[in-house]
Amino acid sequence: MTSIPEFMTSKHRECDELFTEAEAAAAKADWSLALTKWQSFALELTKHFGQEEDILFPKFEQATGMTAGPTQVMRMEHQQMRALVQDLDNALAAQDKDEYLGLSETLMVMMQQHNMKEEMMLYPMMEQNVADGEQIIAQFQAS
Ligand SMILES: [Fe+2]
Ligand SMILES: [Fe+2]
Repeated sequence: MTSIPEFMTSKHRECDELFTEAEAAAAKADWSLALTKWQSFALELTKHFGQEEDILFPKFEQATGMTAGPTQVMRMEHQQMRALVQDLDNALAAQDKDEYLGLSETLMVMMQQHNMKEEMMLYPMMEQNVADGEQIIAQFQAS
């Protein structure tokens, strides 16, 4: 059985890896590799955000009664990151290296800060408060 912090943190790492590979390819103007890696990253990120927003955050809110706390901040940050992903999509389509690398840097910093808050604070709080955490993760693993 895998815990919420363990599984969700491993997904952060997977996303980071794809993100870094996309950035390295863009830096070398290898646009086809950049696109492949970028699309894999965007897919994984979207799925991860969905699992948090649709399942884990509501579970946490139900369990703790904290609806205006950390989960609201995380949802807001997801929206900011989605907007940046959109901008990066456009930069990639235009094969605009400077634009891509600039936006990529911004997203990386935002993502690192966001992930750290989840890993240090929110996921451990979920682990303590969400009773069926392991079943939820088993479903994520199967999806
Ligand atoms: Fe998140
Ligand atoms: Fe996350």
